[in-house]
Amino acid sequence: MTSDMKCKIEGELVEFERALAHFLTPTHRKDDPVWQAARYSTLSGGKRVRPRLLFMTCRLFSDNLPQEAMAFAAAIEMIHTYSLIHDDLPAMDDDDFRRGQPACHRQFGEATAILAGDLLLNRAFETASASCVKSGRLEAVSALWWMATMAGGEGMILGQSLDLAMDGRSRKGEMRRQMSSAAAPEKDDITSIELVREMVALKTGCLIRAAVGAGARLSGASSDDRAQLDRFASSLGLLFQIRDDILDVISDREMLGKTVGKDARDQKKTYVTVLGEERARQALAEAACDAEKALDALETKGHKTDELRAYTRALTNRIT
Ligand code: IPE
Ligand code: IPE
Ligand code: MG
Ligand code: MG
Ligand code: MG
Repeated sequence: MTSDMKCKIEGELVEFERALAHFLTPTHRKDDPVWQAARYSTLSGGKRVRPRLLFMTCRLFSDNLPQEAMAFAAAIEMIHTYSLIHDDLPAMDDDDFRRGQPACHRQFGEATAILAGDLLLNRAFETASASCVKSGRLEAVSALWWMATMAGGEGMILGQSLDLAMDGRSRKGEMRRQMSSAAAPEKDDITSIELVREMVALKTGCLIRAAVGAGARLSGASSDDRAQLDRFASSLGLLFQIRDDILDVISDREMLGKTVGKDARDQKKTYVTVLGEERARQALAEAACDAEKALDALETKGHKTDELRAYTRALTNRIT
């Protein structure tokens, strides 16, 4: 990659932060707690993995980003941040620390944190759909549909529900009554790795697929390329969550910016708690290998995959 291109990419990320802050600036009552809370959680850092992936996917097809790319990248980051705010609530993972600061509900109270999550989810669709209206491109409407589907009740939200259904509290009976037999493991201590894999593919894989698939659609990718990119994104989502599960055991709060050791504390079903750290590392390596294979196939078709390849390796070995 040329140094000019590197500069351009860095410039895009700076522009992304500016655009995100702009999209989260209301015309009235900016000081309302719900806006303060939404901005507090979204504009406080985070790795911006999904926006970066959207941009990298677009760059497979052109050096210049499609006109709706910033709005879609911001929208996916808003959806991701809402999922984290709700994930941290006492009724879910009950975590006090996120992105190096008190979790949204610790700072603003539970009721405002719930509303801030709602606000971000809605704002995401206001932002992305406005860019579709402005461009009038069918490719952008297709990206909007994809993002909605991946974030919804057949995607990320279903994954979060399966996650809850498998944790220690629900197995002790609190939620069991409400669960379908498909979601509830028959025996408390036997949760197959296949079920964990399905849960991970939904709760984490779907938003990664949303980012890559939206980038592909905005770029007018062929259905063949979209399918290959979706294979890549699914493997990347899996490896990203397995790494998250490993970091929960080997990292610390200062490094990670969130509480560690909580998966074991809450009897969560993760790759590490079900398989043990060593086999989780093997599964991580396998997912990384699958992701690289999907990139190889794209390379064969003439796409320059260096940037996505380097980022996949960085995420496989990430320590934050
Ligand atoms: C955390 O996501 C939740 C998972 C899906 C593992 P990230 O690790 O991308 O969180 P931020 O955006 O950097 O805070
Ligand atoms: C979170 O998974 C997935 C979503 C928020 C959709 P985790 O519960 O493992 O994420 P962390 O560890 O709290 O970031
Ligand atoms: Mg969770
Ligand atoms: Mg959590
Ligand atoms: Mg985790």
